[in-house]
Parts: sequence; structure tokens; C-alpha cells
Amino acid sequence: MSSSKSKILVTGGAGYIGSHAVLALKRSGYEVIVLDNLVYGHRDLVENVLQVELIVGDISDRQLLDQIFATHNIAAVMHFAAYAYVGESMTYPDKYYRNNVAGSLTLLEAMLAASVSKIVFSSTCATYGVSETIPIPETHPQQPINPYGASKLTVERMLKDFGAAFGLKSVTFRYFNAAGADPTGLLGEDHTPETHIIPLVLHTALGKRKSFSIFGTDYPTPDGSCIRDFIHVSDLATAHVLGLDYLLNGGETDAFNLGNGNGFSVREIIEAARQVTRREIPVEEHPRRPGDPPILVGSGEKASKVLGWHPQYPDVTQIIAHAWQWHQQRHGALSSVV
Ligand SMILES: NC(=O)c1ccc[n+]([C@@H]2O[C@H](COP(=O)([O-])OP(=O)(O)OC[C@H]3O[C@@H](n4cnc5c(N)ncnc54)[C@H](O)[C@@H]3O)[C@@H](O)[C@H]2O)c1
Repeated sequence: MSSSKSKILVTGGAGYIGSHAVLALKRSGYEVIVLDNLVYGHRDLVENVLQVELIVGDISDRQLLDQIFATHNIAAVMHFAAYAYVGESMTYPDKYYRNNVAGSLTLLEAMLAASVSKIVFSSTCATYGVSETIPIPETHPQQPINPYGASKLTVERMLKDFGAAFGLKSVTFRYFNAAGADPTGLLGEDHTPETHIIPLVLHTALGKRKSFSIFGTDYPTPDGSCIRDFIHVSDLATAHVLGLDYLLNGGETDAFNLGNGNGFSVREIIEAARQVTRREIPVEEHPRRPGDPPILVGSGEKASKVLGWHPQYPDVTQIIAHAWQWHQQRHGALSSVV
């Protein structure tokens, strides 16, 4: 159980996964402060829904970080702030190394200077590259095939090296595909631009898009479309609280997959969404996109054994249903077709 006095700095807490983590932290009795530059985050979710202090600023602003650490008694950092568009990272790798790697380095240096020695870091299954085994264990070779994955792997390496040299303790979570929304309907996914499959399928069901595009129908999978492991965002949030508790209770640096161990193809997700929404979801087929591995499915066994993490919403239909509830509420009134 957490100490009710610990204040946690959440970078990227105005974003999709970060905001759900803030909610889980609050529900566990932690005090939270969010640092987000609002490039992609939502002020209204932090200030009105979560009712948490929001500092609008950048993780690469060392002066601001020093000021935050000097004026708040921060016990640990949860670090979500990053760019996370695989396709964009192929076109503009510089942007990804600057924000995800250089930004994280500035944050870590500021933490060290302020003697804040615990961090939970958002990494990704994209660090594994093309999987050799299914489901992927944490010991699988990490050979990312896109700059986004490489930028996250570089931070993982920095965390290990800073642990050995400076005693920094970290929990790295390698998420598979985050999906769904808070079951009570408070929060959900609202990316602009949106590239994630479940929201795009639901936008199509709502009539916000004319059709859903399948990229690649000739992968070596049973129906030819990519296979991914969808993990409920509230289960990710719970894992973060467990990871934080683990560190605050003296746990050693470690890395954990957060996945359900079950893969669903893009075509299966579209079918499940048709059933949940009872709407038409027209589909267009396109060639493969560079940087997309055919199958990514992760084993969450280690997180279960070490942290006691047990996903509460492993059923993909329920994940889609929670996302649908949120999307109808947040976007249902919009009718423009893009
Ligand atoms: N969504 C997924 O399926 C997924 C999968 C694996 C890993 N991740 C990782 O999880 C984290 C959160 O992802 P998300 O889907 O919630 O993305 P998101 O874009 O919704 O959230 C990221 C937040 O960070 C903020 N941000 C970005 N750069 C910043 C900077 N330099 N300074 C301050 N704030 C900054 C953005 O404004 C945004 O609010 C990311 O690190 C991402 O790489 C996401």
C-alpha cells in the first residue's frame, strides 16, 4: 500500500495513458503533479476531470525541472512524455531522438541533481522489433525496426547505466497496444492525429471517417493482417501504481512487459467492433507500411509474478466496449467526415 504523503511527478500526464495513471495514483492515495507541454495532451482532463496541478512545460526545460524539484517534495517520477508515432519517426527520426532521448536525459539529470532516485518509464514492445517467439518474454532480443522503438531502447539503456553509476532505480514497462478507456467513462483516448486501430475503427463507426484502412493484407498471419496484443489502459495504469509501490518499497531496477499474451488480427478487431457498435465499418485495403512488425504479442507473466499484476479487463470485446462508450461521449456529437 502506498504512503498517502508521497508526491509523484507525472510527465505526459495530460496524454492518454498518463491521464489514466494519474487517476489510478489518486485512487491509491498519492498526490500527483503533472508536467505536460500539451503538444498532444488535454488540459481539460487534468484540470477539470482529474483536478490535479498541471504545469505546462517541457521535459527538456532544465530550469523548469529544477524549480519543480526544488518546490515540491517529489518521491518519484512517472515518465510518459514522448512522441509515439512510428510512421512519423521513420520520416523525422531527429524529432524522436531529440524529444524522447535528449528530453529524457535532461529529466534524469535534473532528478539526479535533486536526489530523486526512482522512476517508472513508459517503454514499448516496439523495442523488440520482429518477434522470434510468441508471446515475447522480457529476455527476447531488442532489435527495433523503427526510430521510435530505438529511441525508447536508448532510454532503457540510459536507465540501466544511470542505475549502475548513480544508484537510480527504475521500473521500465514495455507496453503492447494500449486500448480502451476508463470503465466509468471519465477518461479515454483522444489522439490528434489518431493512428491507433481501435479509435480509428470506432471513428469509422461514428461516421467521422469514411472507411478504415487496413495496411498490409499479405502478412504471414492466418487472415493476412497484422496481429497485436491489446491491453486495457486501466490495467496499464494499475501496473504503474504497482511498479511505483515496488520501487518505493526498495525494489531493484527491472523491466516488465505489459501485455495480455493474446493476439488479435486487425480484421478480428474490426469484426469485434462491428458487434460492439452494431454499425457499418467500411474497410479499404492498402499495402504494408514500413516499420510495422507482423506479430506483436507479449507475455505479462513476469509482471504478474514480481508485481502481482493481473489484468482486470483482458477481454478484447470489453476493451472495445469501454472505448466505444468514451468515443460516443467525446466525439459522438461531431459529424464531419475526414
Ligand atoms: N499508446 C500506446 O499504445 C503505447 C504503446 C507503447 C508505449 N507507449 C508510450 O506510452 C507513453 C504515453 O503514450 P500515449 O499513447 O499516452 O501518448 P500521448 O501522446 O497521449 O501522451 C504523451 C503526452 O506527453 C506530452 N509530451 C510529449 N512530449 C513532451 C515534452 N517534451 N514535454 C512535456 N510533455 C510532453 C504530450 O503532450 C502528451 O500529453 C509514451 O511514452 C509512449 O511512447 C504508448
